[in-house]
Amino acid sequence: MKYRTIGTGPHSREVSVLALGAMLFGSVTDEKTSFALLDRYVEAGGNFIDTSDNYAFWTDGGQGGQSEELLGRWRRSRGVGDEIVFATKLGARPLAPGTSYTDNAEGLSAKVIRESSERSRERLGLERLDLLYAHIDDHTVPQRETVEAFGALVAEGTVGLLGVSNQAVWRVERARALAAAAGLPGYEVLQYQHSHLRPRTDVPDALFPDGSLGHAGAELAGYLRAEPALTLVAYSPLLKGAYTRPERLPGDYDHPGTPARLAVLHEVARETGATVNQVVLAWQIGHELPILPLAGVSSPAQLEENLAAVDLELSAEQRARLDAAH
Ligand SMILES: NC(=O)c1ccc[n+]([C@@H]2O[C@H](COP(=O)([O-])OP(=O)(O)OC[C@H]3O[C@@H](n4cnc5c(N)ncnc54)[C@H](OP(=O)(O)O)[C@@H]3O)[C@@H](O)[C@H]2O)c1
Repeated sequence: MKYRTIGTGPHSREVSVLALGAMLFGSVTDEKTSFALLDRYVEAGGNFIDTSDNYAFWTDGGQGGQSEELLGRWRRSRGVGDEIVFATKLGARPLAPGTSYTDNAEGLSAKVIRESSERSRERLGLERLDLLYAHIDDHTVPQRETVEAFGALVAEGTVGLLGVSNQAVWRVERARALAAAAGLPGYEVLQYQHSHLRPRTDVPDALFPDGSLGHAGAELAGYLRAEPALTLVAYSPLLKGAYTRPERLPGDYDHPGTPARLAVLHEVARETGATVNQVVLAWQIGHELPILPLAGVSSPAQLEENLAAVDLELSAEQRARLDAAH
């Protein structure tokens, strides 16, 4: 395994360059399989596990929490301590069963930040959340309130690092500026969807009516270049399995750049003897920008394939070709 630092200051952590997504653990993926995947990930040196207070509400029409609860049971049964970094999120938990974050999210008020983080700590069985993200944006709450509420948790010691997901870059920068001006900790880990294939960003959807704000695009890349304290945690790096099952590719990938990038991915896979999934993960892990892929898996074979990507070295020339394809 290889490691990289996330965050700055006293709460910064050394985490494995491949994070494990536990989104479907305890719902779609049964307990026995989930425990086996977690055990193997840790055995291979992995120590960065991702969940959220709303995972996976859509699987049973509830409000989520199954993933955090499963991780809490796994922690207790294995005697897991500080060596594993648990990241969770709040803000996108639906307020009632049968509703969604698109129309009925808990949001980012001071009350929610305090109460939901406490519930997450209870479910995970942790005194301190190593990394807590704002899962989505909330335009109904003044950003200062959100920033101060997150800052209070860090000051109390119940949260280590702060992160943000799916917000417009200007909102992230504004929140970080407010925090800096107030002498409070700001978001240092940015979690966005990022893979080798790139979506069109002019296709609105219910969650992101301004376009695909959840995707890490050129603006976010520029922000990462300018702010060395930041890390991009790339969610859905394998496009939910679409590299091996193309019928899963969402409609916003239907544009002329997709076949061009797929062609180079397959070319590099042939040259290295690796799979396309491994080339995607290795391209992110060794990228000049601080990108840390966060992949989900449902079987031991998938996990082994993804873990092996950590040791795949791409040449500068292969990287240049992968970067340039469009
Ligand atoms: N911040 C956010 O808003 C947000 C949103 C989504 C996800 N996330 C986080 O990111 C994590 C990963 O995201 P994700 O599950 O959406 O996407 P992903 O990691 O791209 O895809 C995971 C799925 O891809 C398939 N897969 C994985 N490895 C494979 C391999 N080696 N070969 C073939 N198929 C493979 C599996 O599908 P099958 O199980 O169907 O075989 C697996 O469940 C989540 O667990 C969650 O923690 C965050």
